[in-house]
Amino acid sequence: MNFIKVNTYEELSAKAAAIICGQVAMKPECVLGLATGSSPLGTYAKMAEKNEAGEVDFSKVKTINLDEYVGLDGNHEQSYRYFMNNNLFKNINIDIENTYVPNGCATDVEAECLAYDKLIKDLGIDLQLLGIGYDGHIGFNEPDKYFEKATHKVALDSSTIEANSRFFASRDDVPTTAITMGMGGIMSAKKVLLIANGKGKRDIVEKAFFGPITPELPASILQLHNDLTVIYSEN
Ligand code: F6R
Repeated sequence: MNFIKVNTYEELSAKAAAIICGQVAMKPECVLGLATGSSPLGTYAKMAEKNEAGEVDFSKVKTINLDEYVGLDGNHEQSYRYFMNNNLFKNINIDIENTYVPNGCATDVEAECLAYDKLIKDLGIDLQLLGIGYDGHIGFNEPDKYFEKATHKVALDSSTIEANSRFFASRDDVPTTAITMGMGGIMSAKKVLLIANGKGKRDIVEKAFFGPITPELPASILQLHNDLTVIYSEN
């Protein structure tokens, strides 16, 4: 594991964007696994800046997102499709047809999950970007008795609902289930890049990367990945 501690969120975002854009420069037709949440916002802004400056070309890149709320379509402002379109895709020269987010409104969720795993297998993820939840979740893989391998529907933990309620009008508006890529998809990525910032994440980051590997702390499985970079900034 390559553990990088930086001083500011700005630095974290610049480093993460440099790693992702480096991946694109090395393989212009690469597949990026992407995350939503507040952690990658700075990274996405830097990626857009580099694209605008002509330093990186996303025209051949494909992206596969980690997760989506069940019941929200892509026009809903809190859907992850909407988040990605607004915070990254519309700001870079990617072909929107090459961007994949699970369909939260699929009538057959099980079939959607199977199709998503086939997509991950067929395309193959070159680099997976991750954030980490306060309970150690990655994607929406919540603490559990075992690591769930496949893309699946998940009931969100109350701490996750609480954390995400800041984006909704009220806690009751936060969807209680989501579709998430499983650990198999995440671990199949050739490289994994996890970013975490803020004092509040310090404890979970320490436990996840320097403590025992357990499904009670889903991110801990990443210790077994042979190309993992973690960037942490306390501020
Ligand atoms: C979202 C996702 C989640 C977030 C995590 C941290 O696509 O994968 O696992 O990365 O909830 O969220 P923030 O960055 O908002 O603290």
